[in-house]
Amino acid sequence: MSIDDLIARLPKVELHCHLEGSVPAPTFIELAAGHGIELKTTDPEHVYDFFSFLEFLDLYYQVCDALATPADIERGVYDSLVHGKATGNLRYREMFFSPTNHSQVSYGQMVDAMVSGIKAAEADHGVSCRLIADINRRQSPQVAVQLVEAMIAHPSEYVIGLGIDDDEATGPPEMFVDAFTLAGRHGIRRTAHAGELGVAANVRTSLELLGCERIDHGYAMTRDPEVFAFARDSGVHFTGCWFVNNFHEGVFTEGVDPATTGLAQMIRAGLPVSLSTDDPTMIPTDLNAEYASVAATLGLDEAAVVGLARAAIDGSWADDSTKATLRAELDAAAR
Ligand code: HPA
Ligand code: ZN
Repeated sequence: MSIDDLIARLPKVELHCHLEGSVPAPTFIELAAGHGIELKTTDPEHVYDFFSFLEFLDLYYQVCDALATPADIERGVYDSLVHGKATGNLRYREMFFSPTNHSQVSYGQMVDAMVSGIKAAEADHGVSCRLIADINRRQSPQVAVQLVEAMIAHPSEYVIGLGIDDDEATGPPEMFVDAFTLAGRHGIRRTAHAGELGVAANVRTSLELLGCERIDHGYAMTRDPEVFAFARDSGVHFTGCWFVNNFHEGVFTEGVDPATTGLAQMIRAGLPVSLSTDDPTMIPTDLNAEYASVAATLGLDEAAVVGLARAAIDGSWADDSTKATLRAELDAAAR
């Protein structure tokens, strides 16, 4: 069996994927048309084209606008999970969503719609999902606190954590201590996008001041030995996104060797790292491609590939019995 065959067979867990970055292009185009949202093109091959991170975020906001009603959101979640299963043998995902980017629905409406989509995808395709509400760091710290208050007022067994995304330069982690502290007091698990394009110090701040148990991305810390040592010693789990990191570090445009990127260094150093797609219909990538490209670039053998898949289960916030099931399924497929 080739490594790629093994990768395709493994039932996978991903911990870093955004609802709004994982809506298949045809679904996005149809929903946008229904709401009179003007797109650059209605060609599904090009509707998600972007050339910079900020352009990507503008497009991401358009997807948020297209997911306007509870019915849109339920469909978006369902189509996203089915796409993950079809392209990457996705078995379980902890999925970010950006409640404060959806102005036409309340937090409670959004969660209820997402849960309906998750239940339908689970029944039809055997793919499970839990949710992480994401703060948009370009909005104010007050909006972030209000989001956490809404999470507390509308608890759901499906919503297991709080995250923060968007542009680190505009919204460094120290601005959001109040929201994360409130979440921690209410037993909500915490993670943060840090060190993606922002400075390495954002990784340390997210751990020390925000109480994060995971870091999303983290690549910048490979350029700061002190932060790197701090994060390594903390044992924190990193959700790595290979194609995103390659995009940011110039692999596609400047011919940078992918074996030298931040994420490549983190994997080689043996940190607790899992692989995820981030925004798989926009990038575009999928879970099989993430694993295959990492394996080929770093020369991983079968045991190392299975080790990456196991790291995702270890780093997840699923309950112990779910983790045991996921491990057993992984072991069975890896034999
Ligand atoms: N980083 C920052 N903002 C985002 C991301 C990301 O990976 N995905 C969607 N919004
Ligand atoms: Zn992300």
